[in-house]
Amino acid sequence: MSNNIIAQDYSICRQKRNQKNRHRSFVIWFTGLSGSGKSTIANRVEEELFNTGIQTYTLDGDNIRFGISKGLGFDEESRYENLRRIAEIAKLFTDAGLVTIGAFVSPLQKDRDLVKDIVGTENFVEVFVDTSLQECERRDVKGLYKKARAGEIKHFTGIDAPYEKPANPDVLIETEKESIETAIQKVLTFVKHKLEL
Ligand code: ADX
Repeated sequence: MSNNIIAQDYSICRQKRNQKNRHRSFVIWFTGLSGSGKSTIANRVEEELFNTGIQTYTLDGDNIRFGISKGLGFDEESRYENLRRIAEIAKLFTDAGLVTIGAFVSPLQKDRDLVKDIVGTENFVEVFVDTSLQECERRDVKGLYKKARAGEIKHFTGIDAPYEKPANPDVLIETEKESIETAIQKVLTFVKHKLEL
């Protein structure tokens, strides 16, 4: 019963971990349609940070759904629960001193707001990977759009489920107009000052 639970104080706190690592910890959250390029860019951003000595970890939609969110579907309630769990994990990782990189479709503003609330606004960097549905469907890397159009997958984002574009992302990436190198640099430039103690 949560009534009888009293929070325990830890003597090793986030601040101490940040000092030991010599950088701050926060969450870089990539949102966009399936196939927009989120995971590819997130992966390259993590590589760059990791190679400069930053403690990082990536949480990625497809992988998370094999484990902690196994069994959850894509109806609105399931996506909410998926993202709530991930936000709680990202919060723990932030406390553990990591720069956590999240790559999730996270199509609804209210769910992205929830993530932001859970991890804390000051710890949340939103990156919108803006690739048009037309382009994602043209790429169809995983063959899922074809299945969704054929009615074999229900609630597919962009087809029969909504994607609400973030109104004010910290970083906007337009994959049809800019190179992946430019995209990576944009994210790195934005987070550079946030890493400083
Ligand atoms: S989220 O909406 O809950 O944030 P998440 O990022 O975890 O989604 O998972 C999205 C991934 O699951 C996509 O990249 C795609 O490969 C796969 N997927 C399977 N079914 C769907 C669906 N109905 N809508 C969107 N993505 C789906």
